[in-house]
Amino acid sequence: MIEDETRVLSSVVASQLPVHAKYGGVVPELASREHLRAIVPVVREAMEKAGLVWKDLDAVAATYGPGLAGALLVGLTYAKSIAFAAGLPLIAVNHIEGHIHAVILEARQRGTPVELPALALIVSGGHTHLFEAHAEGGYRLLGRTRDDAAGEAFDKVAKLLGFGYPGGPVIDRLAPHGDPRAVRFTMAKMKGNALDFSFSGLKTAVLRWVEGHDMAAEIGPRRELLRECPVPSEEQWLAVTPAATLDLLASFQRTVVDELLRRAVAAADRVDGIRSLIVSGGVACNSGLRAAVDRRAVGVPVHFPSRALSTDNAVMIAAAAFPKFRRGEFAGLGTAAEPALELS
Ligand code: KG4
Ligand code: ZN
Repeated sequence: MIEDETRVLSSVVASQLPVHAKYGGVVPELASREHLRAIVPVVREAMEKAGLVWKDLDAVAATYGPGLAGALLVGLTYAKSIAFAAGLPLIAVNHIEGHIHAVILEARQRGTPVELPALALIVSGGHTHLFEAHAEGGYRLLGRTRDDAAGEAFDKVAKLLGFGYPGGPVIDRLAPHGDPRAVRFTMAKMKGNALDFSFSGLKTAVLRWVEGHDMAAEIGPRRELLRECPVPSEEQWLAVTPAATLDLLASFQRTVVDELLRRAVAAADRVDGIRSLIVSGGVACNSGLRAAVDRRAVGVPVHFPSRALSTDNAVMIAAAAFPKFRRGEFAGLGTAAEPALELS
């Protein structure tokens, strides 16, 4: 909940990871069911922590897309119900705009506001998109993944190697134990928009590497470990991961990070007047990506969210809603969830 431009009164996140981990990825039906189970207690806890009751509020915001239809419906319908019952205006927020505003909010709190226009690199399980974000609140899509999202590539590679779901955090922790230059992946040249991304070729290259190395003997023990302990520690993983696999993970992560930064730097170069770079979404947690940005001159200041606000949360939706509240940009109670909503 955000009272003014800079103050977060409370933040409550319900993680569904233990539910989906067993299946090696997000199961849409389970996601909606878990949303339904969590939404009332989570909102109640957020209100209590903030010391607020409904009549203290001026508006209610929720995301209406993009995302899984069932999960979006739960959140949006609940927000509409509160808005209707309490006589409050509804603000409909694009999920991606939320990721961007998480960074804008925190940068302002740190005293180093994001200067606009900015480039926004959104890297999550569903998105790898590069936008130009304007001061007036508009966005222009500069490039996007043509196949897998970066987070999806992390998740698929981890699953293939027996590291479970989600893959990003495990690979992030194990990559520093390997040699990032050990395996060379050549990324295919793409025709068309030079700011587009593609990660499916890299995923296939990892698959080929696995097929070329006898890995059954190490994947079995990792799956066994996951059955015994849903979130193994770094030490537990290291005990069942040979050096060659650590090298593979390090090389994979380096390749993803290089691809992301190459396009971001090219965009910063190419688009006139860009004053900063925002990186957000679950993959923005990645230590390799953060370290690479520190080492590499992007040409403009780079802003990351805190790890807590990198992955999905409600603060980011409130942060993106606030400028809309000020502009009086309210949504009707007939607003529908839009799973494939674009940002413009
Ligand atoms: O933004 P997010 O929480 O949900 C979506 O909107 O997708 O992002 C989740 C994604 C997953 O693919 C996960 O593997 C990835 O972010 N992720 C990471 C890290 N932490 C989460 N990827 C790389 N390194 C991490 N540390
Ligand atoms: Zn997200």
